[in-house]
Amino acid sequence: MTDFLTLLKQKQIGARERKEEVKIVLEGQYKVAYEILLDAYNAGLHACLVGPPGTGKTLLVRKFAQDLGKPFYWVTFTEIVRSSTLIGSFDPVLVFQKGFSAEAFVPGPFLLACIEGGIFFANEINRADEFTLNVMLDALEEKRLFLPQLRTWIRVDDGFYMVAAMNPYEMKGTRKLSEAIRDRIRIWIHLDYPPPELEKKIILANCPEYRIPYQILECIIEIISKLRTHPEIEKPPSIRASIALARFIGERAKRKGEITFEDVVEAAKYVLLDTIDVRAGTDPKSVVNSVLRELGLGEIP
Ligand SMILES: Nc1ncnc2c1ncn2[C@@H]1O[C@H](COP(=O)(O)OP(=O)(O)OP(=O)(O)O)[C@@H](O)[C@H]1O
Ligand SMILES: [Mg+2]
Repeated sequence: MTDFLTLLKQKQIGARERKEEVKIVLEGQYKVAYEILLDAYNAGLHACLVGPPGTGKTLLVRKFAQDLGKPFYWVTFTEIVRSSTLIGSFDPVLVFQKGFSAEAFVPGPFLLACIEGGIFFANEINRADEFTLNVMLDALEEKRLFLPQLRTWIRVDDGFYMVAAMNPYEMKGTRKLSEAIRDRIRIWIHLDYPPPELEKKIILANCPEYRIPYQILECIIEIISKLRTHPEIEKPPSIRASIALARFIGERAKRKGEITFEDVVEAAKYVLLDTIDVRAGTDPKSVVNSVLRELGLGEIP
């Protein structure tokens, strides 16, 4: 068995996270969530971050894993991710040479995290098919994992730890997690859109090469905050949209040597109209324009 595990360890595939410094504003809800994650990890309790798109879940988990300095593997689930994506599969060329043996088997990211005692990040876990997730059940609780292709059980290393992230259930494309998985995830951490002062810091941290005047930053935050609480909005703009507004405006300012409020309106047009969803019976442009008018910025023609 040892030889088999050594062999698999040597076959590290592309799913392992590249070493690159994660830049995050670790304040407010992010600091709280980080500390909860740390306590959950030390207590051996698998955790899940829950929050709307673009609230920093993935970034926080990457930062956490980087600080721990352990092997880090992740999978972003969609309905086409299969259990073989997690566990691994035979390489047909190697099978031709070595037969259906461990040498011809290419381990998947979940198996590698189990063997190496690493962190496994189940990103967008509630977009997965229930049968796909079922292969993880024994590893999460009984610390053993069955490899159907090799017809063998392996022991999961004591250092193995899983963090998941997901959007709330009401978001499009999500499924209800099975009771079995929900029961094995012990700590649930909720993130939301950050308050304005924190979002300003996040925007600036993501625009290091631009000089965004304070007035423009305020203006971006006002537009975004008003849209998030607008009665006609179904899918509000995320932090990604705030960052995109700032970067687009910053780039224009660099090229033209000045920033005007017309540039803010233009940025709103190109960034926001296709990213927000509004209630039936209205359209994104009239919702965005109502906010722009309220702020005295004019409107998108
Ligand atoms: N605290 C933060 N510090 C710096 N940047 C942040 C922070 N939070 C979010 N961001 C930025 O916001 C964007 C979205 O973050 P991220 O991808 O982590 O969101 P998410 O919650 O995983 O979204 P989704 O549900 O769509 O996967 C990224 O560009 C990220 O860099
Ligand atoms: Mg994410």
